[in-house]
Amino acid sequence: MIKSSKKLISSLLHNNLKNTSVLRNSGIICCYSSNNQNNNNISNQDNNNQDNNNNQDNNNNNTNNNNKIINIQNVKGTHDLFPNEQRIHNFIYDTGRDVAERYGFKEISTPIIEPFELFDRSVGEGSDIVMKEMFKFKEYDPKNIGSGPTICLRPEGTAGLMRAIINESSTNHLTPTQRYYYQGAMFRYESPQKGRQRQFHQLGIEMIGDEHPRSDVETIDMAMEFLEKLGVDTSKTLLKINTLGDSDSIKAYNEILTQFYQQNREKLSPISINRLERNNALRILDSKEKQDIELNKMAPLMNESLSTKCRDRFKEVLEGLDCLGITYEIDQSLVRGLDYYRHTIFEIQIIDNPSESQGLAILGGGRYDGLANQIGYKYKEILPSIGWASGIERIALFLNEKLIPKPIKPISIVTTFPTLSINAFKLCSDLRKKGWPTMLSTYHLEKENISKQLKKVINKSDFVIILAPIEFSTNTLIIKNLNEHTQSLVPLNDIEDFLLKNNISKI
Ligand code: HAM
Repeated sequence: MIKSSKKLISSLLHNNLKNTSVLRNSGIICCYSSNNQNNNNISNQDNNNQDNNNNQDNNNNNTNNNNKIINIQNVKGTHDLFPNEQRIHNFIYDTGRDVAERYGFKEISTPIIEPFELFDRSVGEGSDIVMKEMFKFKEYDPKNIGSGPTICLRPEGTAGLMRAIINESSTNHLTPTQRYYYQGAMFRYESPQKGRQRQFHQLGIEMIGDEHPRSDVETIDMAMEFLEKLGVDTSKTLLKINTLGDSDSIKAYNEILTQFYQQNREKLSPISINRLERNNALRILDSKEKQDIELNKMAPLMNESLSTKCRDRFKEVLEGLDCLGITYEIDQSLVRGLDYYRHTIFEIQIIDNPSESQGLAILGGGRYDGLANQIGYKYKEILPSIGWASGIERIALFLNEKLIPKPIKPISIVTTFPTLSINAFKLCSDLRKKGWPTMLSTYHLEKENISKQLKKVINKSDFVIILAPIEFSTNTLIIKNLNEHTQSLVPLNDIEDFLLKNNISKI
């Protein structure tokens, strides 16, 4: 690569761009997961170099500190998002925003730290999330250590959003439907693996205040639209849907399940025996323990416990989906792992058999009519609500990379002559103020010769402006198009016209 760069630079300098392969091969290939290492490209190499430099810096610092060499790794299950990955996340967020706004939703942000009690009461004390996956700690009070309230990093966004709405008190069961969307980091102490992290990101939507079955259909339709706009291959996904019925149906089902698990108590994992003792048999159904999974295959299904009203409601939801041409599979074993759900629940899963992602949920949601009352809603009426959240890291594994906008490449400015460095600096500043992303090849224009400067910008820019002494003395600049291997002499006054004509985008 270095050899080819040298060749390229010398050909650039002599205005003789015969060696075109280097540039042709430098197109950015989008690369998300570490599995794509074979696709290694120049921008990733840049990242790696940056990584190595950072590590070196760290190591130097660390060596000075107590003379010990230590290597500080990121916390298990967390991930640094370098620009290429951040760009993919941003594409998912931007697409989600566009879709949500089109359906009349508005963005909201709630804190990452919340009182632990919020999730204990809503997601449920018997859920996997609350029993095993919370990052929780005592709020620090230096005067009385250990006395503070227990707070936690949020494991999901729905409960926090409902808490915010209740506290704000402008929403009640009589106000018109409220539509919100949000995005951000969530935290669950899980065993990290592909598509499962301890810090991950969600984009979610919540519709508060409507109990009509068509609101279920609309939110599901929105989820499908979101995935379609991201270019997720729908032949590899499946919408699974089920109903839990209302609180009475859930209570009746819990009793039937309790009986079943009592009879098979010796086959249960210790954590599920605990759930059984806390009268929380429903949560055993979504246990990830191997021995529970085996037993759950024989557990009675929800269907029998549903009232006619609940069945009719579900039928109406399915008819709505049929009407919009949304395909689904009714999965009576789907219960979802959060206590707040009522009636419709759904998940969009990967069905890429026999891939290791088989069954992985990229999006999940449902109706949670009882949640507000569980966390301090001051009215006795229910606040009917429905929503979903999608896992950004998981979606990133399955979207169409061709749809991701290419990274913006700034124009580079180089100069062959040290005394022109101040002019280069000024030009750079002027172009930026007019909206063109621009950078100097280096601040050390005096120290680095032209080939070094050009080498630095080869993969970073499509256009390079060169301030050369002879041309600059007649107020003219040299502009090189690194993709087309052409060069133009452009009068200083015409530079904006040139950039506009060449479709160099402004920001
Ligand atoms: P959830 O199914 O727990 O639902 O999470 C939603 C999505 O977040 C999952 O489908 C998955 O894509 C992603 N996800 C969950 N855990 C992880 C993880 N450890 N690593 C990577 N991705 C993960 C909820 O959170 C509900 N609040 C959804 C909802 C909104 N229901 C109603 N409104």
